[in-house]
Amino acid sequence: MDTSLVHLQGATKNFIDGKETHNVLKDMDFSLGKGDSIALTGASGSGKSTLLNIIAGFEHLTHGTLALNGANVSNWKDDEWSQFRHQSLGVVFQQFNLLTPFTVKQNIAFPLSLNGERWNMWCDHLVETLEIDALLNRHVASLSGGQQQRVAIARALAHKPSLLLADEPTGNLDQKSGLEVMKLLTEIAAEGNTSILLVTHSLECAEFMHSRFHLANGQLNAST
Ligand SMILES: Nc1ncnc2c1ncn2[C@@H]1O[C@H](COP(=O)(O)OP(=O)(O)O)[C@@H](O)[C@H]1O
Ligand SMILES: [Mg+2]
Repeated sequence: MDTSLVHLQGATKNFIDGKETHNVLKDMDFSLGKGDSIALTGASGSGKSTLLNIIAGFEHLTHGTLALNGANVSNWKDDEWSQFRHQSLGVVFQQFNLLTPFTVKQNIAFPLSLNGERWNMWCDHLVETLEIDALLNRHVASLSGGQQQRVAIARALAHKPSLLLADEPTGNLDQKSGLEVMKLLTEIAAEGNTSILLVTHSLECAEFMHSRFHLANGQLNAST
């Protein structure tokens, strides 16, 4: 049995739009090992977010299998998906998706609360490293884009997930802040033993990952 963190075999995803079927992923194989990090590039509409959504359980495969940590997810019920997301998954989106009525500290503590945990020393370390420790009591809506993205990263890693899915996490930042955020993200993920699947348009950001793949025509190919 394959014990990768993420293992997709013969993965096919079709979307039906009226009479048309869009074949977004075609009989694709993909593995992400523990402690590994992979960058995923591909044109807009090539299916990158769809792949992330499938791994997070927000979308399901049309054909093929997905195994997470060696467990086939095909029979998982909602509560098994919730447990996986709460305990093992961190997600960073391009649009941050922070809880805007709340403070920085409340946002970062939220995933912990889902696991019955509280703010701890790891959280202190995260906010110090990301240099957002002075902002803990600010409302997230009052922060700059770069600051919000750092909060989103701290929130995604607060519960030390085994897997981080990051969908164009530096897409809204200028190049300098983007690279700075990538550096911190990879350092902290390594400290927490978190594997990363990163979608990015930036080859410089992709360089921070151990390996790189390109998605086109529903197929993944290794790129340099
Ligand atoms: N929920 C959905 N219903 C129908 N079509 C979808 C859905 N999600 C994505 N698609 C289509 O799948 C293709 C891939 O989308 P997406 O995964 O968002 O691409 P990317 O993230 O690479 O830009 C696009 O043609 C998109 O319109
Ligand atoms: Mg996308």
